[in-house]
Amino acid sequence: MNIIKVKNISKEYKISKHENGFIGYIKHILNPKTETFKAVQNISFEIKEGEIVGYLGENGAGKSTTIKMLTGLLTPTSGEIEVNGIVPYKNRIENNFQIGAVFGQKTQLWWDLPVIESFKLIGSLYKMSKKEYESNLNWIIEKLELQELLNKQVKNLSLGQKMKCEIAATFLHKPKIVYLDEPTIGLDVLVKENIRKFIKEVNKEFHTTILLTTHDIKDVEELCDRIILIDKGCIIYDGSINTFKIKYSNNDFVTIFKKESESYIAKIKMNNEMQIVEETKNYIKIKYNSQKISIVEIIDLFKKYYTIENVETNEAKFEEILKDIYRGHTNVE
Ligand SMILES: Nc1ncnc2c1ncn2[C@@H]1O[C@H](COP(=O)(O)OP(=O)(O)OP(=O)(O)O)[C@@H](O)[C@H]1O
Ligand SMILES: [Mg+2]
Repeated sequence: MNIIKVKNISKEYKISKHENGFIGYIKHILNPKTETFKAVQNISFEIKEGEIVGYLGENGAGKSTTIKMLTGLLTPTSGEIEVNGIVPYKNRIENNFQIGAVFGQKTQLWWDLPVIESFKLIGSLYKMSKKEYESNLNWIIEKLELQELLNKQVKNLSLGQKMKCEIAATFLHKPKIVYLDEPTIGLDVLVKENIRKFIKEVNKEFHTTILLTTHDIKDVEELCDRIILIDKGCIIYDGSINTFKIKYSNNDFVTIFKKESESYIAKIKMNNEMQIVEETKNYIKIKYNSQKISIVEIIDLFKKYYTIENVETNEAKFEEILKDIYRGHTNVE
């Protein structure tokens, strides 16, 4: 079942436009001018119940804007959103009961209160029964190892401790859908590991649907079944990480292990899509553009001159492919 349905949504922000300098500023006050900026442009996707989807893209691509529309914080300029049958920006309160959200840069905890008091307030905001609250609280304290933090004031927590409490506050009412906007930003490897493990377990145990935004590739590789890549407000890829690698990796490597120790490389008709990076008595390592030439074609070229004993491939790393797309080195249709 598709629990999140996003159809042709766009979001335009109005930004004020004024000329440079003091005079420009005064002119603007007397006669304010605005222009519109399209942060999200006509995007559509659906997410199945229980999926963990990575919502990725460069800084400023439109990720947080999308998540704010999904939570009901922002209303789309056009298009439709339905989250488990609810239109978030029309029924924000009703929607709040079924979702949880972490915005890595902001806190939902009460700054001056001890952590446990924030949890109690959240329990009452979500109208949880005493029994439900206590059982959920014990579950989350154990899972995220929070016992020692409960009586500390939020403002005195370290970044990692605060994020663990933030995650706890988000999952305390066991929401069906959770939006995590950079939940691991600035955290050390152990806290990241702890949070990833928690997300995986909750997803498995409760079939929680999770939309995750992160710049940490390890988060994506460890957690996400699927990624949606957004660029300048438009979706440029939606699918599995594996298909993404196959589709967009420009620089894969293949190592051909051969029987003959002599070199016949000079006889092989090379083309621009492949390049020998290493040649020894036992093997030849080739860098090739997998968008243009397949391993089978490469092997066909080499087997005319060599008895091939084995072939090893090293696919390009997900992070490298993303970097190439961000730099504009890889075209994405
Ligand atoms: N309230 C606003 N008014 C005007 N422009 C805005 C507003 N909020 C966001 N923007 C612009 O919309 C674009 C998308 O912003 P958004 O916060 O969605 O990006 P993002 O993908 O979450 O980036 P990051 O990875 O840096 O968090 C940016 O160019 C941003 O400057
Ligand atoms: Mg953002």
